[in-house]
Amino acid sequence: MATYKEVIKTYSRQLKDITHIPQKEVEILLLSIVKQNVIWLHINYNEQCTCEAELNKLVEKRATHYPIEYITSRASFYGEVFNVQDGVLIPRPETEILVEKAEAILKTIDSPKIIEIGTGSGIISVMLALLIDDISIIAVDINDKALELAKSNAIKHGVEDKITFIKSDLYNEISNDEKFDMCVSNPPYIADNFKLERNVMYEPSNALFGGNRGDELLENIITQTANRNIKYLYCEMGYDQKKPLTKFINQFNIKELEFYEDLAKLDRGFTLEFKQ
Ligand SMILES: C[S@@+](CC[C@H](N)C(=O)[O-])C[C@H]1O[C@@H](n2cnc3c(N)ncnc32)[C@H](O)[C@@H]1O
Repeated sequence: MATYKEVIKTYSRQLKDITHIPQKEVEILLLSIVKQNVIWLHINYNEQCTCEAELNKLVEKRATHYPIEYITSRASFYGEVFNVQDGVLIPRPETEILVEKAEAILKTIDSPKIIEIGTGSGIISVMLALLIDDISIIAVDINDKALELAKSNAIKHGVEDKITFIKSDLYNEISNDEKFDMCVSNPPYIADNFKLERNVMYEPSNALFGGNRGDELLENIITQTANRNIKYLYCEMGYDQKKPLTKFINQFNIKELEFYEDLAKLDRGFTLEFKQ
């Protein structure tokens, strides 16, 4: 029987063309099997590995580009751990910028009420519920699996009382009488014919593709948010959508529009305040 250290070295080779951190990923897979943390691993590096057969299966799965987050059912976002599940989009680090921007303005409003469109795993709503004491949130999605997962994340983080999850195509199931201070959304915004990287192909297409051009759903969200007289709209968008969205947004009565970049310096979203 080989030691943990030897096993990690052997299996890392199988992932060298899949990820730039093969050893780290093998360690994560191994720890998900033994349900231990990295300190345990450091202490036990030279002990005999008792789970090589299970690890082999997980590494084989990962070697097909299947995302590691779906294998371990976990992902980190904004310093917290969230449940993830096949069939629901995996949280992306750039979405932390959207949460940060929304938090900054919501902190200035008394008992803010917001709607999130396309909640997915619930990361945005759950984080805002954790960051802002007196917030109340309606989080919608068209995907039942996403709504179940988002609920589980709200419960995991103890904020289920602050968020109502509703199955709705955009605002369709939300009464016009409901008043919101903000709509926040990371909607599908990739053009339908865009060729995705292999690992992304395992994620649900209705979380990724936003229409023929890609920004159709965003346009719809902008129009409906304006029609409902919601003051703030904060959205993530595609790196090539700043110009067309600026033109589109300028038809409305707006007070302020700002675009922001992600860490790779690509245009990644906007914050919009409508004139009231
Ligand atoms: C890019 S994912 C974002 C998920 C999550 N908010 C995040 O940031 O990781 C977009 C989400 O929008 C949902 N969605 C797609 N079309 C929708 C629609 N017409 N109405 C409501 N939700 C929609 C998808 O099911 C998916 O969960």
